[in-house]
Amino acid sequence: AHTRLWGGRFGGGPSPAMAALSKSTDVDWRLAPYDLAGSRAHARVLNRAGLLSDDELARMIGALTELSAEVAAGTFAPIEADEDVHEALERGLLEKLGTLGGKLRAGRSRNDQVATDLRLYLRHNVRALARELSSLEYALVGLAERYADVPAPGMTHLQHAQPVLIAHQLLAHAHAIARDVDRLVDWDRRAAVSPLGSGALAGSSLPLDPDAVAAELGFDRAADNSIDAVSDRDFAAEFCFVAALLGVHLSRLGEEVVLWTSTEFGWARLDDAWATGSSIMPQKKNPDIAELARGKSGRFVGNLTGLLTMLKGLPLAYDRDLQEDKEPVFDSLEQLLLLLPAVTGMIATLTLRPEVLEAAAPQGFALATDVAEWLVSSGVPFRSAHEISGEMVAFCESAGLELDELDDEQLAGIDERLTPEVRSVLSVRGALAARKARGGTAPERVADQLVQLADLARQH
Ligand code: ARG
Repeated sequence: AHTRLWGGRFGGGPSPAMAALSKSTDVDWRLAPYDLAGSRAHARVLNRAGLLSDDELARMIGALTELSAEVAAGTFAPIEADEDVHEALERGLLEKLGTLGGKLRAGRSRNDQVATDLRLYLRHNVRALARELSSLEYALVGLAERYADVPAPGMTHLQHAQPVLIAHQLLAHAHAIARDVDRLVDWDRRAAVSPLGSGALAGSSLPLDPDAVAAELGFDRAADNSIDAVSDRDFAAEFCFVAALLGVHLSRLGEEVVLWTSTEFGWARLDDAWATGSSIMPQKKNPDIAELARGKSGRFVGNLTGLLTMLKGLPLAYDRDLQEDKEPVFDSLEQLLLLLPAVTGMIATLTLRPEVLEAAAPQGFALATDVAEWLVSSGVPFRSAHEISGEMVAFCESAGLELDELDDEQLAGIDERLTPEVRSVLSVRGALAARKARGGTAPERVADQLVQLADLARQH
């Protein structure tokens, strides 16, 4: 049967349903450039092993280079009969070289080939992903810089908790993204191992040089165990985890943008170019990017879950189940590359409303902790200080007053230790400035973070 890679021992071609199930070119054609790069490296190793003459090598490299150009231009593509990317490309090579094309397969199996291709594909695209992440980091840092001195309500349980600088909150998201970049860098160190040379599972009896192939393809080294090399998909699962966690970070950022741009919050406005309207309600301006960030996080988690579940019962070494590793990986990567520029644009063009943020910052008795800590610094045990401050809140709530509106008599009535000096801590600016240890929301600590995160984004 025409160019099947495994025709010899078979009487007839596969049944149509078998062929349809088996076929993966729709998905794995993305690997074609990497498969061709692997083939060039393999041809050189065959030549050094004396299995391909210099003249044959030259013709082989020539044909592979031509094929690469045709694949890039879209003039060579899989046909119906091709089972997978490897088979399609071998067909292309045979069309150019005749029987010489059949020499390239020596010492190589689709099992080590596909594991290599997927690593190459991911290592290349993860660099693009990291670049997108540093753009988002920049956008968050830029937004934080523009509103560097604006106080805002800090929330826990989505209730006013303590005032913070809005920049502090924005930079919290930037730290998460910086960790994602760090995870990708760390991932690459483990992914930089080449499976080529492992053959189907046991290595090759031919005098190949796996380390030379590894070096040519930009890997740090070749795998130490051929069985592991063809069956290991840790690099795919780890990537899907990093993608899922990153997706969750984008989702949480998205959720805040949804809240902040609501009429009820009114903290932020989306730029027209980064929002959508409604087909019926003319007044609408919707945060679709933020919602898609939130929504897509589900499929990233799903991709990770699907991949791990596929892997969990597999006996070593290669099993065809492993072909199912690609869709989750491609989907997570491609969706992130689609999502990130939009999220970055939305953040880079977001307008905050400092007057709304600043006015909301002290609301909900957000300075009650400062009262308690003021009492503590004059020797009151925190348990009592907490009680006293809580009574102050209860008094204000029933009297319809803010904490700083209590007169001396009312303060003393709540507790004699509430002297008029307590008012010194009842300001948002004071509360912010006081939180000046590392990690706190004081303006100088936030300024440190701005420098630190901008540096990190530059390195990334
Ligand atoms: N297309 C397969 C995959 O993606 C590689 C082919 C290996 N097939 C085989 N029968 N050993 O995993």
